[in-house]
Amino acid sequence: MVQTLTVLGLESSCDDTAAAVVRQRKGTRADILSSIVHGQTDLHSAYGGVVPEIAARAHAEKLDICVKQALTQANITLGDLDAIAVTAGPGLIGGVMSGVMCAKGLSAATGLPLVGVNHLAGHALTPRLTDGIAFPYLMLLVSGGHCQYLIAHGPERFTRLGGTIDDAPGEAFDKTARLLGLPQPGGPSVEVEARTGDPKRFRFPRPLLDRPGCDLSFSGLKTALMRMRDQIVGEKGGLTRQDRADLCAGFQQAIVDTLAEKSRRAIALYLEHAPQEPVIAVAGGVAANTAIRSALETVSHGMGTRFTAPPLALCTDNAAMIAYAGIERFQTGALDGLDLTARPRWPLDQSSPAMLGSGKKGAKA
Ligand code: KG4
Ligand code: ZN
Repeated sequence: MVQTLTVLGLESSCDDTAAAVVRQRKGTRADILSSIVHGQTDLHSAYGGVVPEIAARAHAEKLDICVKQALTQANITLGDLDAIAVTAGPGLIGGVMSGVMCAKGLSAATGLPLVGVNHLAGHALTPRLTDGIAFPYLMLLVSGGHCQYLIAHGPERFTRLGGTIDDAPGEAFDKTARLLGLPQPGGPSVEVEARTGDPKRFRFPRPLLDRPGCDLSFSGLKTALMRMRDQIVGEKGGLTRQDRADLCAGFQQAIVDTLAEKSRRAIALYLEHAPQEPVIAVAGGVAANTAIRSALETVSHGMGTRFTAPPLALCTDNAAMIAYAGIERFQTGALDGLDLTARPRWPLDQSSPAMLGSGKKGAKA
């Protein structure tokens, strides 16, 4: 590789507009020189979910501000960069296009090479950015739009062991929050409520545990929750604070138990590849959940596997992971031209058949 690579990353695939600068010196761990994230929670809060058109417009308005802030925070100028990396999919197409157009404009104006990055690769390569983890490692990617077990063999080579056939866990957390009148994003709100709840009071299903393999399903949990909620409301006329906390705790425990058991199975499959120092890493917004993190840690230690999870700010969407994935791709010589296109769907493992089902953010990869 060249001695030093400094890359600007742009991210706009869902409801976070982000820009970051990452620098990689040969033989050392990459450094995050800056990471700017402008969330859009306030813009979407009245609608109970992300509105794609509002998101795309807000990205278009905020991207150049983010870029300026990222360069200032990194104390560099465009002239110090070696490349521009941008999320080219998968995601909400209007937002992805905003990012790709901004990156193309910067590339055309400066002559810097353009690197289109798969958003999922950004999450999946984060353990290399944060902990320098070597290939092959097992990755559980859990976010608002995705849930899959992957073996990462290389920057662009992944084998999918299983994934959700319907909702992603983040989506289930968000829907649960909506059903209980809690604020979005639902994950953190439900986690806070669950802390004071009794996870045993309501018995939620553990979907697909009776089926071999590591596929998952989460859409039944919100249906179960809706029935329980309606029954309490029918009997007592409303939910008490404790009812809400108990529902959140029961729901979260079902996700924890399901992910723990499926992770046990995924680790067993991964160990068949005889990695020298086995590692399971978790990434994506749901990886911010403390109960999920600690359950996965227990499972992995029980199987003699190292567990790693990024700091919370690098679990949720950010551009540092895009800049870093851009560096990995740049090093393979895979550059893009001004004909780079935005892709709404872009599975990491192209050889596995598409997962069934389609959540709010499109077909599951
Ligand atoms: O990775 P991310 O920022 O965006 C996507 O690519 O989807 O993930 C966002 C998702 C949301 O559904 C949010 O509710 C969930 O991650 N999330 C959490 C927590 N923090 C964020 N879910 C459970 N517990 C949390 N603490
Ligand atoms: Zn994401």
